[in-house]
Amino acid sequence: MAPKTNQTLGEFIIENQDSFQYSSGELSKLINAIRLAAKVVNHEVSKAGLIDILGGVGETNIQGEDQQKLDLFANDKFIQTLRNREIVCGIASEEEDSFISINSNDKNNQNKYIVLIDPLDGSSNIDVNVSVGTIFSIYRRVTPVGTPVTIEDFLQPGNKQVAAGYVVYGTSTMLVYTTGDGVNGFTLNPALGTFYLSHPNMQFPEEGKIYSVNEGNYVHFHQGVKDYIKYCQMEEGDRPYTSRYIGSLVSDFHRNMIKGGIYMYPKSSVTESGKLRLLYECNPMAFLAEQANGLAIGGKTRIMDIEPTELHQRVPFFCGSRKMVEKLQEFLNKYH
Ligand code: AHG
Ligand code: MN
Ligand code: MN
Ligand code: MN
Repeated sequence: MAPKTNQTLGEFIIENQDSFQYSSGELSKLINAIRLAAKVVNHEVSKAGLIDILGGVGETNIQGEDQQKLDLFANDKFIQTLRNREIVCGIASEEEDSFISINSNDKNNQNKYIVLIDPLDGSSNIDVNVSVGTIFSIYRRVTPVGTPVTIEDFLQPGNKQVAAGYVVYGTSTMLVYTTGDGVNGFTLNPALGTFYLSHPNMQFPEEGKIYSVNEGNYVHFHQGVKDYIKYCQMEEGDRPYTSRYIGSLVSDFHRNMIKGGIYMYPKSSVTESGKLRLLYECNPMAFLAEQANGLAIGGKTRIMDIEPTELHQRVPFFCGSRKMVEKLQEFLNKYH
């Protein structure tokens, strides 16, 4: 059905739930819970600077990153909201050492879904009032309902995702998601607390003119990536391209999807697996990218075909407009 632009997210979920592949009611409730948690986090993020929510907590997460107060606030809100509604059987988060089981060994618990989240993406930007985000990824459990969830339920390749999306707390707050039937974006009207369908059927332009990479790491990149960056900067045809890098994956991805571009977080001589997390960051963004006519690769492989081996696994990540990713692939292939 053609989307109506005055439609609310709540209406959209109900109207489209028949297109969900599995247990539509349960997935609808789950997306509704994410919508609610996003509003709570948005409220807090928008007050940053007025209340004591900026800065670090003096702790590091399991990946060795300094945790910000808002990392933990967002983590708690998402977990609490999902736990209280009893609509998932397990959650894994960038900020938690291990996965969380939610009454999954209760025989009466028929919940089939697990959620993986990056509660606050780009958190190092929060102190300077730059857009941050939340990323989520949803799978069906592979172990039987009514038995405890296991690591197997969480270590599924991205091609098994049922839904994925992100919230960007930016100039305006948006929730963008896919259930495998295209990508739709909803903008929050803060006065009403309601998300409206503002960006129906989002698509990466086939070709783009923006490249996004932390060029400060250039010296550590592999030769294929270096050559591609030089190609982007070369004066020829529609090049040089424009360089744009916010340092929040969600915001960089969002801009590139609207304007056309490529995002890169390569491995390097100092970070052999890159930085971004396969399960919380790369898979959900890859699902969105492919649903929006873009591509996402980790080098030679399609991101969503990588078999995960651990919860907090990192992988190199290249994602964006189809033709740009294909061109990058040509450069990478020369060296591997
Ligand atoms: P997070 O804040 O969830 O830990 O993620 C940070 C990620 C991602 O948002 C961003 O694209 C990347 O780190 C930026 O890394 P650099 O500062 O190394 O460029
Ligand atoms: Mn982090
Ligand atoms: Mn992140
Ligand atoms: Mn994060």
